[in-house]
Amino acid sequence: MTRKRVAVLISGRGSNMTALIEAAKDKNFPAEIALVVSNRPDASGLASARDAGIATEIVDHMVYGKERAAFEAVLQDALEQHRIDLICLAGFMRLLTGAFVTRWNERMLNIHPALLPSFKGLDTHERALEAGVKIHGASVHFVVAEMDSGPLIAQGAVPVHDDDTPSTLAARVLAVEHRIYPFALRLVAEGRVRVEKGRCIIAGAAALAGASLVIPGGIPNT
Ligand code: GRF
Repeated sequence: MTRKRVAVLISGRGSNMTALIEAAKDKNFPAEIALVVSNRPDASGLASARDAGIATEIVDHMVYGKERAAFEAVLQDALEQHRIDLICLAGFMRLLTGAFVTRWNERMLNIHPALLPSFKGLDTHERALEAGVKIHGASVHFVVAEMDSGPLIAQGAVPVHDDDTPSTLAARVLAVEHRIYPFALRLVAEGRVRVEKGRCIIAGAAALAGASLVIPGGIPNT
Protein backbone atom coordinates (compact mmCIF):
# COMPACT_ATOMS: atom_id res chain seq x y z
CA MET A 1 0.00 0.00 0.00
CA THR A 2 1.31 3.45 -0.91
CA ARG A 3 0.23 5.83 1.77
CA LYS A 4 -1.21 9.15 0.59
CA ARG A 5 0.88 12.15 1.55
CA VAL A 6 -1.25 14.63 3.48
CA ALA A 7 -0.71 18.30 4.34
CA VAL A 8 -2.69 19.65 7.28
CA LEU A 9 -3.38 23.39 7.13
CA ILE A 10 -3.89 25.13 10.45
CA SER A 11 -4.22 28.61 11.93
CA GLY A 12 -4.38 27.83 15.65
CA ARG A 13 -4.08 25.15 18.31
CA GLY A 14 -4.33 22.22 15.91
CA SER A 15 -6.12 19.64 18.02
CA ASN A 16 -7.67 18.11 14.89
CA MET A 17 -4.22 18.09 13.32
CA THR A 18 -2.97 16.14 16.34
CA ALA A 19 -5.83 13.66 15.99
CA LEU A 20 -4.80 13.08 12.36
CA ILE A 21 -1.12 12.73 13.31
CA GLU A 22 -2.02 10.19 16.01
CA ALA A 23 -4.20 8.15 13.63
CA ALA A 24 -1.48 8.15 10.97
CA LYS A 25 1.06 6.70 13.42
CA ASP A 26 -0.60 3.34 12.76
CA LYS A 27 1.34 1.92 9.83
CA ASN A 28 -1.88 0.43 8.46
CA PHE A 29 -3.42 3.89 8.19
CA PRO A 30 -3.61 4.68 4.45
CA ALA A 31 -2.20 8.22 4.80
CA GLU A 32 0.81 9.87 6.38
CA ILE A 33 0.95 13.44 7.61
CA ALA A 34 3.87 14.71 5.55
CA LEU A 35 3.49 18.45 6.18
CA VAL A 36 1.79 20.97 8.44
CA VAL A 37 1.32 24.48 7.08
CA SER A 38 0.21 27.45 9.13
CA ASN A 39 -0.76 30.87 7.80
CA ARG A 40 0.00 32.27 11.26
CA PRO A 41 3.56 32.19 12.62
CA ASP A 42 2.20 32.11 16.19
CA ALA A 43 -0.14 29.10 15.76
CA SER A 44 0.43 26.88 18.77
CA GLY A 45 -0.20 23.79 16.67
CA LEU A 46 3.15 24.31 14.93
CA ALA A 47 5.02 23.28 18.07
CA SER A 48 2.90 20.12 18.42
CA ALA A 49 3.65 19.24 14.79
CA ARG A 50 7.40 19.75 15.27
CA ASP A 51 7.31 17.69 18.47
CA ALA A 52 5.74 14.91 16.44
CA GLY A 53 8.60 15.14 13.93
CA ILE A 54 6.47 16.50 11.10
CA ALA A 55 7.81 19.03 8.59
CA THR A 56 6.25 22.46 9.05
CA GLU A 57 5.99 25.53 6.86
CA ILE A 58 4.70 29.00 7.64
CA VAL A 59 3.04 30.88 4.81
CA ASP A 60 2.13 34.14 6.51
CA HIS A 61 -0.88 35.66 4.75
CA MET A 62 -0.04 39.09 6.24
CA VAL A 63 3.01 39.25 3.97
CA TYR A 64 0.77 39.11 0.89
CA GLY A 65 -1.92 41.54 2.01
CA LYS A 66 -4.95 41.20 -0.27
CA GLU A 67 -2.96 39.22 -2.85
CA ARG A 68 -4.64 35.88 -2.28
CA ALA A 69 -3.19 34.40 -5.48
CA ALA A 70 0.37 35.27 -4.39
CA PHE A 71 -0.24 33.66 -0.98
CA GLU A 72 -1.63 30.56 -2.66
CA ALA A 73 1.27 30.35 -5.13
CA VAL A 74 3.68 30.02 -2.20
CA LEU A 75 1.37 27.54 -0.51
CA GLN A 76 1.14 25.50 -3.72
CA ASP A 77 4.95 25.47 -4.00
CA ALA A 78 5.27 24.06 -0.48
CA LEU A 79 2.66 21.41 -1.26
CA GLU A 80 4.48 20.41 -4.44
CA GLN A 81 7.87 20.33 -2.75
CA HIS A 82 6.47 17.87 -0.24
CA ARG A 83 4.68 15.86 -2.97
CA ILE A 84 1.32 16.27 -1.26
CA ASP A 85 -1.64 14.18 -2.45
CA LEU A 86 -4.37 15.37 -0.08
CA ILE A 87 -5.02 18.49 2.01
CA CYS A 88 -6.85 18.54 5.34
CA LEU A 89 -7.98 21.97 6.52
CA ALA A 90 -8.08 21.90 10.32
CA GLY A 91 -9.07 25.23 11.80
CA PHE A 92 -7.51 27.01 8.81
CA MET A 93 -9.01 30.51 8.92
CA ARG A 94 -8.36 31.73 5.36
CA LEU A 95 -10.75 31.62 2.46
CA LEU A 96 -9.17 30.02 -0.60
CA THR A 97 -9.72 31.20 -4.17
CA GLY A 98 -11.83 29.28 -6.65
CA ALA A 99 -8.69 28.51 -8.68
CA PHE A 100 -6.96 26.86 -5.72
CA VAL A 101 -10.08 24.97 -4.71
CA THR A 102 -10.57 23.70 -8.26
CA ARG A 103 -6.97 22.57 -8.45
CA TRP A 104 -7.50 20.46 -5.31
CA ASN A 105 -11.00 19.33 -6.24
CA GLU A 106 -11.95 16.18 -4.27
CA ARG A 107 -8.46 16.17 -2.75
CA MET A 108 -9.09 18.80 -0.04
CA LEU A 109 -11.10 18.09 3.11
CA ASN A 110 -12.40 20.43 5.80
CA ILE A 111 -13.90 19.90 9.24
CA HIS A 112 -16.73 22.13 10.38
CA PRO A 113 -18.13 22.18 13.94
CA ALA A 114 -21.82 21.70 13.04
CA LEU A 115 -24.08 19.24 11.29
CA LEU A 116 -24.00 20.81 7.84
CA PRO A 117 -25.91 22.21 6.04
CA SER A 118 -27.02 23.75 9.37
CA PHE A 119 -24.89 26.47 10.92
CA LYS A 120 -22.38 27.29 8.22
CA GLY A 121 -19.84 29.96 9.17
CA LEU A 122 -18.61 31.03 12.59
CA ASP A 123 -20.00 30.75 16.16
CA THR A 124 -21.76 27.49 15.42
CA HIS A 125 -22.17 26.43 19.05
CA GLU A 126 -23.73 29.74 20.12
CA ARG A 127 -26.15 29.56 17.21
CA ALA A 128 -27.04 25.91 17.87
CA LEU A 129 -27.91 26.77 21.49
CA GLU A 130 -29.95 29.79 20.38
CA ALA A 131 -31.86 27.63 17.89
CA GLY A 132 -32.58 25.07 20.62
CA VAL A 133 -31.45 22.06 18.60
CA LYS A 134 -31.31 18.81 20.57
CA ILE A 135 -28.59 17.25 18.44
CA HIS A 136 -25.49 19.05 17.24
CA GLY A 137 -22.19 17.80 15.87
CA ALA A 138 -19.47 18.09 13.28
CA SER A 139 -19.02 17.40 9.58
CA VAL A 140 -16.10 16.52 7.32
CA HIS A 141 -16.62 17.53 3.71
CA PHE A 142 -14.77 18.09 0.47
CA VAL A 143 -13.96 21.76 -0.06
CA VAL A 144 -15.77 23.61 -2.85
CA ALA A 145 -15.67 27.30 -3.70
CA GLU A 146 -18.71 28.10 -1.57
CA MET A 147 -17.84 28.06 2.13
CA ASP A 148 -18.89 25.03 4.24
CA SER A 149 -20.83 23.60 1.31
CA GLY A 150 -18.99 20.66 -0.25
CA PRO A 151 -20.08 17.01 -0.39
CA LEU A 152 -20.29 15.47 3.09
CA ILE A 153 -17.92 12.60 3.82
CA ALA A 154 -18.70 11.90 7.50
CA GLN A 155 -20.67 13.44 10.32
CA GLY A 156 -20.73 12.89 14.06
CA ALA A 157 -23.56 13.89 16.39
CA VAL A 158 -23.74 14.74 20.08
CA PRO A 159 -26.69 15.49 22.35
CA VAL A 160 -27.25 19.08 23.45
CA HIS A 161 -27.90 19.46 27.19
CA ASP A 162 -30.23 22.08 28.68
CA ASP A 163 -27.43 23.53 30.78
CA ASP A 164 -24.85 23.63 27.96
CA THR A 165 -22.82 26.74 27.35
CA PRO A 166 -21.06 27.33 24.03
CA SER A 167 -17.85 26.04 25.60
CA THR A 168 -19.29 22.83 27.11
CA LEU A 169 -20.98 22.09 23.81
CA ALA A 170 -17.81 22.91 21.87
CA ALA A 171 -15.83 20.44 24.00
CA ARG A 172 -18.36 17.66 23.37
CA VAL A 173 -18.33 18.36 19.63
CA LEU A 174 -14.53 18.56 19.53
CA ALA A 175 -14.23 15.02 20.93
CA VAL A 176 -16.35 13.85 18.00
CA GLU A 177 -14.32 15.92 15.52
CA HIS A 178 -11.22 14.05 16.64
CA ARG A 179 -12.92 10.77 15.75
CA ILE A 180 -14.58 11.62 12.47
CA TYR A 181 -11.66 13.45 10.84
CA PRO A 182 -9.29 10.46 10.85
CA PHE A 183 -12.25 8.28 9.85
CA ALA A 184 -13.07 10.50 6.86
CA LEU A 185 -9.42 10.80 5.82
CA ARG A 186 -9.10 7.02 5.92
CA LEU A 187 -12.10 6.62 3.59
CA VAL A 188 -10.73 9.17 1.12
CA ALA A 189 -7.16 7.85 1.23
CA GLU A 190 -8.42 4.32 0.61
CA GLY A 191 -10.17 5.60 -2.52
CA ARG A 192 -13.57 4.60 -1.18
CA VAL A 193 -15.27 7.96 -1.65
CA ARG A 194 -16.84 8.92 -4.95
CA VAL A 195 -18.76 12.13 -5.56
CA GLU A 196 -21.98 11.82 -7.52
CA LYS A 197 -24.35 14.77 -8.00
CA GLY A 198 -22.84 16.59 -5.04
CA ARG A 199 -23.11 13.62 -2.68
CA CYS A 200 -20.40 11.29 -1.44
CA ILE A 201 -21.01 7.63 -2.14
CA ILE A 202 -18.86 5.48 0.14
CA ALA A 203 -17.80 2.07 -1.15
CA GLY A 204 -18.53 -0.59 1.43
CA ALA A 205 -20.75 1.79 3.37
CA ALA A 206 -22.99 -1.04 4.53
CA ALA A 207 -20.09 -2.45 6.54
CA LEU A 208 -19.69 0.95 8.18
CA ALA A 209 -23.32 1.26 9.25
CA GLY A 210 -23.58 3.78 12.01
CA ALA A 211 -19.88 4.58 11.97
CA SER A 212 -20.41 8.13 10.91
CA LEU A 213 -23.07 8.81 13.51
CA VAL A 214 -21.45 8.95 16.90
CA ILE A 215 -23.44 9.83 19.97
CA PRO A 216 -21.05 9.53 22.92
CA GLY A 217 -22.73 7.67 25.73
CA GLY A 218 -25.65 6.81 23.46
CA ILE A 219 -29.18 8.13 23.86
CA PRO A 220 -30.20 7.87 27.53
CA ASN A 221 -33.24 5.77 28.50
CA THR A 222 -36.08 7.86 29.81
C1 GRF B 1 -12.48 23.09 15.11
O1 GRF B 1 -13.64 23.23 15.89
C2 GRF B 1 -12.83 22.91 13.66
O2 GRF B 1 -14.01 22.22 13.47
C3 GRF B 1 -12.98 24.34 13.20
O3 GRF B 1 -11.99 25.06 13.88
C4 GRF B 1 -11.66 24.39 15.09
C5 GRF B 1 -10.19 24.11 15.05
O4 GRF B 1 -9.73 23.53 16.24
N1 GRF B 1 -12.90 24.39 11.75
P1 GRF B 1 -8.29 22.86 16.28
O5 GRF B 1 -7.30 23.94 15.84
O6 GRF B 1 -8.30 21.68 15.38
O7 GRF B 1 -8.08 22.50 17.72
